[in-house]
Amino acid sequence: MFRRISGSEVLAVRLGLKGRFVVFVSAIVVAFGVVLTALSVRAQNERLRHELEERGKLLTTVIAANTTDALAMLEVRDLRKLISEARDQENVLDAVAFDEDGRVLTDGTLVNSRRHSLVSEAVLRHVSSSQALLVEFDGDAMTVTKPVHLGSRLLGGVRLRYSLASLAEEQASLARRTAMVGAIFALMGVLAAALLTEAVTRPLNEVIRATRALSKGEPAPRLAVRTADEVGELAEAFNEMTRKLRDTTVSRDYLDRVLETMGECLVVTGPDGTITRVNPAVCKLSGVGEDELLGQNCRDLFRAPQGHVSLLDALGQDGSAHGLETELLARGGETVPVMVSVGAMEESAGRARSYVVVAADIGERLRIEQQKDEFITMVHHEVRAPLTAVRGAIGLLDGGVAGELGERGQELVEIALRNSERMERLVNDILVSRKLESGRMEFHYEKVELMSLVEQAIDGTSTYAAKFDVRFELSKGVPGAMVRVDPDRMIQVLTNVLSNAVRFSAPDDVVTVKGSRHDGMLRVAVSDAGPGISEDFRDHVFEAFARAEHDEWRHRSGTGLGMSISKAIIDELGGAIFFETELGVGTTFFVDIPESV
Ligand SMILES: Nc1ncnc2c1ncn2[C@@H]1O[C@H](COP(=O)(O)OP(=O)(O)OP(=O)(O)O)[C@@H](O)[C@H]1O
Ligand SMILES: [Mg+2]
Repeated sequence: MFRRISGSEVLAVRLGLKGRFVVFVSAIVVAFGVVLTALSVRAQNERLRHELEERGKLLTTVIAANTTDALAMLEVRDLRKLISEARDQENVLDAVAFDEDGRVLTDGTLVNSRRHSLVSEAVLRHVSSSQALLVEFDGDAMTVTKPVHLGSRLLGGVRLRYSLASLAEEQASLARRTAMVGAIFALMGVLAAALLTEAVTRPLNEVIRATRALSKGEPAPRLAVRTADEVGELAEAFNEMTRKLRDTTVSRDYLDRVLETMGECLVVTGPDGTITRVNPAVCKLSGVGEDELLGQNCRDLFRAPQGHVSLLDALGQDGSAHGLETELLARGGETVPVMVSVGAMEESAGRARSYVVVAADIGERLRIEQQKDEFITMVHHEVRAPLTAVRGAIGLLDGGVAGELGERGQELVEIALRNSERMERLVNDILVSRKLESGRMEFHYEKVELMSLVEQAIDGTSTYAAKFDVRFELSKGVPGAMVRVDPDRMIQVLTNVLSNAVRFSAPDDVVTVKGSRHDGMLRVAVSDAGPGISEDFRDHVFEAFARAEHDEWRHRSGTGLGMSISKAIIDELGGAIFFETELGVGTTFFVDIPESV
């Protein structure tokens, strides 16, 4: 459909803002000038006409006064002379003197062709009734009649006809001059309008140029903010806009680069799972090109996690899922084990959501896990079983099954027994640790009294404590308070904390054990007066195989597995384990467990 464009619209399209502004301002200036000129010409004309009129009236009055005597005496010669003189005056076309009956006595010429002709009725009527001047206009001429009286007696009158042609001439020249001045003013107005427009539109043109550059993807120049008015505000707003645009462009480039270089696979899909974007990692892992992947459904790329129809089917209420283990289907029917996280992206209101799928190749991790498991199985079969046999045999020797060993023999057997026990503990710890790590450790929950578990742990450690000449002091604090735990695992944790406290105590020291309640949790605090834990080791206490390098206490460290196992168990039981320590003063370990009511 075409729309008819009006003339003014064509003008607007062709001229642009600047042209329109100049035309508009010029039109106003010219219109103003024309009106002003017209008014001024009119005023000047009136003034000129008035002047001429006054001059005519004055001259007529003077002539009339001069002719009084001649008229009274009917001195035609004198009268003719006077009228003749009047005729010679500037602009006078004609002059006559007439008697009281309106008869023309002289027209100033010797011939006087109008002798005895009469002035018009109207003139005669005026003369006989008034002493005032009678002024008549016709065309370019003005006739002034003045009655002449002697006292109250009417003698007649004089009648002079003036040319107004000079007035027309003067008017024309005046109009020419005024028009010229008007034209100069109009020209100056247009010039001023052009300058003004230039001043107003220059910043706008700068904005246009900068916007064009921006739209072409070129760097937009920073606009100078010269004034505090709307134009200045526009420039400021433009600068702000380009800055924000630059920021988002930079962050988008940055994001693109991150996605390009990240090792994890990133897949973006539409609401129905159609793939709309992939990063190079996806192509690398699947062996499929980007072109082929785009438009496919993510069902064809990822196997559904266990118990689900598709990957997106596994999403939670909030439209996201984390740590799903599944497989990526690579070219040639191969599968790669991956750990997947999915998040929904709610786009602007009313638009369908899309999904971001991040998948990490966990093949290597699974391989290592498998190797670990193989190693653990090997430890279990090839180390633990023979070790148990060795310890049993040594235990028998120590018990005198093979007869008296002698002092030296007994000593050696005791060393062998201690070390084999230690090795057995280590192997057991490694096995437990691995079980906890892989989530295969079974927990048998029971509701038990916490303090009775603490007592059992103290009982179990008391022989060990006696070896170090260390005593336990128990303050129950929360007798009868119940917890839901696996009692064996809980005792394992408490035993580790107690044995550590004992090991880092000096002979005759007391290890205090206190039960208390904290924010719905039951707490067991085990305090010793040992050396404390050095600052740089504090962050590593709960790491596996971490042992501080205490100079004088080094021999007291074990394998460094106890705390990592304890923490894993307490986490599983829904509690917390932490400590407070001060070098040279002592250490307190806290074990918090939710109270069961
Ligand atoms: N009460 C304590 N005072 C000072 N240091 C301690 C205390 N408890 C633990 N530590 C430090 O934390 C380390 C880790 O403790 P953890 O129980 O894990 O290992 P371990 O007792 O050395 O060996 P394991 O318990 O496996 O036989 C200890 O080696 C020791 O350096
Ligand atoms: Mg320990």
